[in-house]
Amino acid sequence: MHSIPQLQEIINKAIAETKYTESPAELYAPISYLMELGGKRMRPVLVLLSAELFGGDIRKALDAAIGIELFHNFTLMHDDIMDKAPLRRGKPTVHAKWSKNTAILSGDVMFVEAYKMMIRVEDVILRQVLDIFSYTASAVCQGQQADMNFEKRADVSMDEYLQMIKQKTAVLLAGSMEIGALIGGADKHQSKLLYEFGENLGLAFQLQDDILDVYGDPEKFGKQVGGDILANKKTFLLITAKELAQKEDHTELARWIHGTDHEPEEKVKAITSMYDKLGIRKLAENQMEVYVRKALGALDMISVQNDTKALLNDFAKTLLLREK
Ligand code: IPE
Ligand code: IPE
Ligand code: MG
Ligand code: MG
Ligand code: MG
Repeated sequence: MHSIPQLQEIINKAIAETKYTESPAELYAPISYLMELGGKRMRPVLVLLSAELFGGDIRKALDAAIGIELFHNFTLMHDDIMDKAPLRRGKPTVHAKWSKNTAILSGDVMFVEAYKMMIRVEDVILRQVLDIFSYTASAVCQGQQADMNFEKRADVSMDEYLQMIKQKTAVLLAGSMEIGALIGGADKHQSKLLYEFGENLGLAFQLQDDILDVYGDPEKFGKQVGGDILANKKTFLLITAKELAQKEDHTELARWIHGTDHEPEEKVKAITSMYDKLGIRKLAENQMEVYVRKALGALDMISVQNDTKALLNDFAKTLLLREK
């Protein structure tokens, strides 16, 4: 049994040892840059924990775990272009440091590198792993496109939002766990429960990300606070605020969203005050807890009883206290 910090260390060591030195350097240097900027390594930790939960050896799951982290970082590289984000993990984003074209192509080759890691799993499960990985990757793209479409729409419903975050974020957590479970030798039923755990944890995780985007401490968050507000992202916070705002507040909110000549800081400040006034943060946190409870319920039903299960339980809870 490994602790979370031990698993993170194993992952970080494996990442540090993998060098992307092929040429041209502009294609590969951004991979090392972004991968070595750190990050919580949550998805690869989930791969390893899922394998270990069913008695699997984490060494058998390490390549797939790195593959998942590569894929995640590729999505971040492209997401930052799409979201016009200046900062990632406290440092300039790849497109800001190099160029958009560099970030596009480097991201593309990163996706290929991710596949190269995934295919190192044992032959007997190779087809299944690639199948999970591929439909997960498609879902992330679908969610990302919905997220972009929603920036331009005023009538996005809560259900549409939830479907979008399920695709862009939750499915990857769930898929990471499904792959880990497969490597660990879980049966279909157990692996489905673990998938359910991952999916609900992912929904909670994205809600938390949306909360931090408004209320995070800029020193710790590592990303631009207020970025979602500036991009008119349809988050749980904005959709709920629109539902709850009455008369003048509703008009004011619409004015900030649809106006084009606002000072960015003013807009962030005004919408944040509106959220404060309407008690949106608390509502988002309550919703997050609903998903954490659902996740823990699924975990509870998994029949194995060991320390790893307890660790997953704690991990789910602590993730939601995070500040970055
Ligand atoms: C950021 O993911 C993208 C989301 C799905 C919210 P993380 O918050 O896991 O980012 P890192 O990898 O720890 O930097
Ligand atoms: C990102 O959602 C999900 C993916 C990267 C696919 P966000 O756009 O909210 O992620 P951050 O906040 O930039 O990390
Ligand atoms: Mg985004
Ligand atoms: Mg983003
Ligand atoms: Mg975000």
